[in-house]
Amino acid sequence: MAERKGFTLWFTGLSGSGKTTITNQLVKELRRRDVALEVLDGDIVRENLSKGLGFSKEDRDTNIRRIAFVANLLSRNGVPVITAAISPYREIRNEAREMMDDRFIEAYVKASVEICEERDVKGLYAKARSGEIKEFTGVSDPYEPPEDPELVLETESQSPEESAQQIIAYLEERELIPAAPVAA
Ligand SMILES: Nc1ncnc2c1ncn2[C@@H]1O[C@H](COP(=O)(O)OP(=O)(O)OP(=O)(O)O)[C@@H](O)[C@H]1O
Ligand SMILES: [Mg+2]
Repeated sequence: MAERKGFTLWFTGLSGSGKTTITNQLVKELRRRDVALEVLDGDIVRENLSKGLGFSKEDRDTNIRRIAFVANLLSRNGVPVITAAISPYREIRNEAREMMDDRFIEAYVKASVEICEERDVKGLYAKARSGEIKEFTGVSDPYEPPEDPELVLETESQSPEESAQQIIAYLEERELIPAAPVAA
């Protein structure tokens, strides 16, 4: 197999928009193609690399800069990386973009606050509304959607499988992953 170029597929979107769900779908599909990759999921990073950080602007920025730092180390050595953190601030995402240049692929996981709140997978929106959680993105803290992302995933009208397929098509088109294996 020809050498593959590393890249960072950078998901951004509200809590409950579908970053983790689409990541899992994508990982399954990429494994089928023998693509070895690494995932930096917001929840897991916050339990490890960013343990102890809170949700102030400063701590959020630090968290995202750490994710970008690791994603850069891996992707510049040919490892595909998926990051799945809310990453609410445009400026910090753009820092990551500048660091990784054309290895950076921004994918906006799009869903309105209303829909995410209806889904409320983790029960966090209810806690944010009641004031139990402060500084909750989309409710009491800002979310800045990307202005010119490489991909927009319309999760209100697409299934996670369809979003994953949209991403696969894009990565194939850019020759960042091999074509689907032919069934034996
Ligand atoms: N098209 C879709 N794509 C992704 N998720 C969807 C879609 N339609 C419905 N869902 C549902 O939305 C929820 C998304 O939750 P998920 O944990 O993936 O969000 P998240 O963006 O990772 O949130 P967080 O930032 O809190 O980790 C899941 O329950 C999923 O089944
Ligand atoms: Mg998640």
